[in-house]
Amino acid sequence: MPDIEIFEVGPRDGLQNEKRLIPTAEKIALIDLLSCAGFRRVEATSFVSPKWVPQMADAAEVMAGITRPPGVRYEVLTPNLRGYQAARAARADEVGVFASASEGFSRANINCTIDESLERMVPIMQAAREDGISVRGYVSVVTDCPYDGPTPPGNVARVVAALRDLGCHEIVPSDTLGRATPEAIDAMLAAVLNEMPADRLAGHYHDTDGRALLNIDVSIERGLRVFDAAVGGLGGCPYAPGAAGNVATEKVAAHLASRGFDTGLDMELLEQAAVMARGMRG
Ligand code: HMG
Ligand code: MG
Repeated sequence: MPDIEIFEVGPRDGLQNEKRLIPTAEKIALIDLLSCAGFRRVEATSFVSPKWVPQMADAAEVMAGITRPPGVRYEVLTPNLRGYQAARAARADEVGVFASASEGFSRANINCTIDESLERMVPIMQAAREDGISVRGYVSVVTDCPYDGPTPPGNVARVVAALRDLGCHEIVPSDTLGRATPEAIDAMLAAVLNEMPADRLAGHYHDTDGRALLNIDVSIERGLRVFDAAVGGLGGCPYAPGAAGNVATEKVAAHLASRGFDTGLDMELLEQAAVMARGMRG
């Protein structure tokens, strides 16, 4: 068991925002390389509306084409029951549902209110329970929203509590814009930890303002031991204008190693994957 798990989201969060339609074979090659680098979990794609995110339209083909070494679990995002059913058919090991801590981003990203999005999850959670598939719950814009401004920590805690009650095994407070300060992340986590213990939270920090490593450090102080990252630092969310990609996996791995934490990752393979990922950028 590594001290800290890096949850690789590059093939989904990293690639979803690329304008050039990346050939399916390139996505599969990236995932297959990442699968050899020591990750326990890789977010491979998303089963969302291709009208909303055209880059992810080949989700089923990606899942069908990857090679699955033992010990690696593949997670995919699902916005509704239809997406969940497609994910199950594609043999996803885990699915991610996503809600927002602000109404403005909820409307922009999934075209509904926060409460409607939580209701939409009910049949997904029920089906996942029956199928024995675990569900990760993302909460976006946990400190700042591009539409509604600063997010009060109490609003994040309310959505975290709802996702917990729905049955998410892990909840992922996300700095979608990548503009959070360590102080804001700390205040947000203080509120969230009243609802969910640290060992069931994962930090997901975009790196627009270059503070993601500091945000990871304050989260470690708060007890978190799982962090999302995207190889090559690719990506962003199409519905968060101006946001850069997730913090780069290789940067997080090097930072954690310098602090004495084992991530179980093969740094050479990781660097190869980062070169491949950067080459995919349009
Ligand atoms: P809608 O337009 O309100 O609803 O979209 P709809 O039901 O009318 O669907 C629109 C069209 O998509 C229809 O096609 C549906 O059939 C189809 P038409 O009838 O017009 O031909 N459709 C689907 N197709 C394939 N798979 C599906 C699916 N569902 C509907 N599952 C909806 C609502 C939620 C579907 C849409 O808004 C959507 O897909 N949004 C996803 C946006 C997205 O993927 N954003 C990025 C991921 S989240 C993220 O990046 C944040 C995260 O990284 C954390 C962070 O950093 O904050 C996780
Ligand atoms: Mg993200």
